[in-house]
Amino acid sequence: MSEDTCNLRVGDSGKEVKLPVYSGTLGPKVVDIRKLYGQTGTFTFDPGFLATASCESKITFIDGEKGVLLYRGYPIDQLAQHSSHLEVCYLLMYGELPTAGQFAEFRSNITRHTMVHEGLKNFYNGFRRDAHPMATMVGVVGALSAFYHDSLDIHNPEHREISAHRLIAKMPTIAAWSYKYSLGQPFLYPDNKLGYAENFLRMMFGVPAEDYEVNPVVARALDRIFILHADHEQNASTSTVRLAGSSGANPFACISAGIGTLWGPAHGGANEAVLKMLGEIGSVKNIEACIRRSEDPKDPFRLMGFGHRVYKSYDPRAKIIRESCHEVLAELGVNDPLLDVAMALEEKALNEDYFISRQLYPNVDFYSGIILKAIGIPTNMFTVIFALGRTVGWVSHWMEMIKEPDTVIGRPRQLYTGATNRDYKPIAKRR
Ligand code: SDX
Repeated sequence: MSEDTCNLRVGDSGKEVKLPVYSGTLGPKVVDIRKLYGQTGTFTFDPGFLATASCESKITFIDGEKGVLLYRGYPIDQLAQHSSHLEVCYLLMYGELPTAGQFAEFRSNITRHTMVHEGLKNFYNGFRRDAHPMATMVGVVGALSAFYHDSLDIHNPEHREISAHRLIAKMPTIAAWSYKYSLGQPFLYPDNKLGYAENFLRMMFGVPAEDYEVNPVVARALDRIFILHADHEQNASTSTVRLAGSSGANPFACISAGIGTLWGPAHGGANEAVLKMLGEIGSVKNIEACIRRSEDPKDPFRLMGFGHRVYKSYDPRAKIIRESCHEVLAELGVNDPLLDVAMALEEKALNEDYFISRQLYPNVDFYSGIILKAIGIPTNMFTVIFALGRTVGWVSHWMEMIKEPDTVIGRPRQLYTGATNRDYKPIAKRR
């Protein structure tokens, strides 16, 4: 990091302090405010950390103005076109694209951990059949920490690596079983002859009574969806994983916390909300009313799948998924009227001053649900698919943080505006 400085005076009479300013390889400079409170008795104020760099990272870079997304420097469109999710997992975890030998070893490590402890199956029986699969995921993934006492020393690099491998390998099994449990169908064990996406599809849609033939078009589309959801800098769920990890919590508990955060409709839950919204709109003729509602400040309705905390231009992932939509639906011979509604809605919104002036564009969730629906994924599993893809991003940031020598437990402060000191009043004296 190259260093500069800036001077800051707090208030007219306050003393002027000199603070270090760092430049990274890409993106805005940062002012190091770690000594600000000690030197001035003043905090900074940034609810939601929207202008705050919470850490130094080498994993993913986003340029929100230009719509750029790089995984370890590689543009997302190139990875979506040429790579596979497992290769992207290696890249995000280890920082480089693997050689053939490295990839073979990595794939073998992941494949050998796709099964889960038989005792973990019992956890499903405690859930209602109609539980949302994300509720099951939060519970079962967190419960993994009850089965791996042999590798929970977060300061042991081998324990960190095998925990990361276990999470990447077991998420498809746990996710597919969450779906099977909701149907009352038997679980299928992973088949290690199959690839990552193929294995998941077979566990999702196969039954013991017959062979299951994976459609290669569907598998490729799903693998690409996993790549596009793999990581995204310090988003809410990744920041949750880092904050949980900073306390020394084990990786399974941290990832479970990340799953819980991703579930929110403002975050990963948006893909499910988009499809519900498109279904409620129903046809192109109802788009006008929907746009009017989303622009009404008194109406809490928002155009789901639109807008982004960082992208103030078209989300590059949405562009790739939009193109894949046409390709996959054509190859599958699916004609989904919701795609027509989505495209007409996008066209209308992108020409509305409300959206233009606020730089609101489609994000990764706007089109992903249409592809997932076309390949047969039920709507309530959409966010589970997002969590499945994002697992490698979560574990990569967790590993990067734990290895960071000056990692400290995260502990934000506050601007307190509550009651000042006052004495207790007996109830008889209260009015
Ligand atoms: C993800 O952080 C990440 O990287 C997340 C993610 C990842 O990969 O991890 O990219 C995944 O979470 C994508 C986002 C999915 N969520 C949605 O699609 C839900 C719908 N979108 C919004 O709720 C919203 O856009 C957010 C939550 C994504 C961002 O909200 P912000 O930060 O409040 O948006 P903003 O500051 O840019 O808003 C500016 C204005 C506001 O209006 P004014 O106060 O200026 O009048 O735009 C409005 C907002 O009310 N606005 C919208 C809108 N999104 C923002 N108005 C209507 N519809 C919308 N979708």
